[in-house]
Amino acid sequence: MSTAIDRFDEGARARFAARGRTIVRDDELLRHPVYTRVLHWSVAIFFILALLSGFAIYSPWLFHSLTPLFGGGAMTRLLHPWFSLGFVVLFVLQVLNWLRPMTWTDADRRWVRRVREYVANTEPVEPEYVDFFNGGQKLYFWTIVASAVIFLISGIPMWFPKTFGRPLVDIGYVLHDVAALVMLVGFIVHIYEGTAAQPGTFRSMTRGTVEKRWAWTHHPAWYRRATGRNPRADYEEAVRRRSGRHESGTS
Ligand code: HEM
Repeated sequence: MSTAIDRFDEGARARFAARGRTIVRDDELLRHPVYTRVLHWSVAIFFILALLSGFAIYSPWLFHSLTPLFGGGAMTRLLHPWFSLGFVVLFVLQVLNWLRPMTWTDADRRWVRRVREYVANTEPVEPEYVDFFNGGQKLYFWTIVASAVIFLISGIPMWFPKTFGRPLVDIGYVLHDVAALVMLVGFIVHIYEGTAAQPGTFRSMTRGTVEKRWAWTHHPAWYRRATGRNPRADYEEAVRRRSGRHESGTS
């Protein structure tokens, strides 16, 4: 049954699809439509602006190098809460957009239990149950949701200290710093996973598409749903074809 969130999201996707274009070739699958890509990069821009302006006013060492980017110390202080609000509002839209694929399932519990194998990269393809997002991606997503809530709740007393009083502002500082640290670590891991760790992933957020072999390697259950084909069989067929080409090339 379609909910108000689904209808809002489908409307937004349709409006953005009419303005942007995603070309999907024969050996590719559509992964992120225009709306998702615009939201992701808008969230990223506001997040980075909030992070840089936040570090600038937090650390005396970074104050001199970072505040000129925003027009001086006073301007940086003024802009930081607005960058942060922009990040939170855009991320709320992303939450509505990704609510379904980010819902936690038994498959994610299984994924988390074998995270060591994932990190060690011992298997050539992910287990058959890994769907559109894996357990790690979902954990990152829900960590951002929790951190954004903490940023908002702790940031408002820091923004209006006279209204809220010293004790609340002090608690706010501690919560804000802890959330910022968690987000920074998550962000560094996220950039690594989205680029160097898994070649072929970054283009999903630029061109919107991924190669089919990327899909059967990293998200087999999604590949099966999107194509109606068996990911393991297609992977083995591709390996056979590659070794056949290799042998005929060397004979
Ligand atoms: C600026 C550097 C960034 C790069 C290179 C990057 C790259 C990517 C890529 C390639 C994906 C698609 C992954 C897939 O389809 O499997 C993605 C997804 C995602 N991005 Fe980013 N991103 C960046 C910044 C951010 C920021 C600042 C946030 C939020 C604070 C963010 C939040 C997410 C989330 C929640 C997802 C979905 C879950 C996941 O794939 O981990 N990204 N990103």
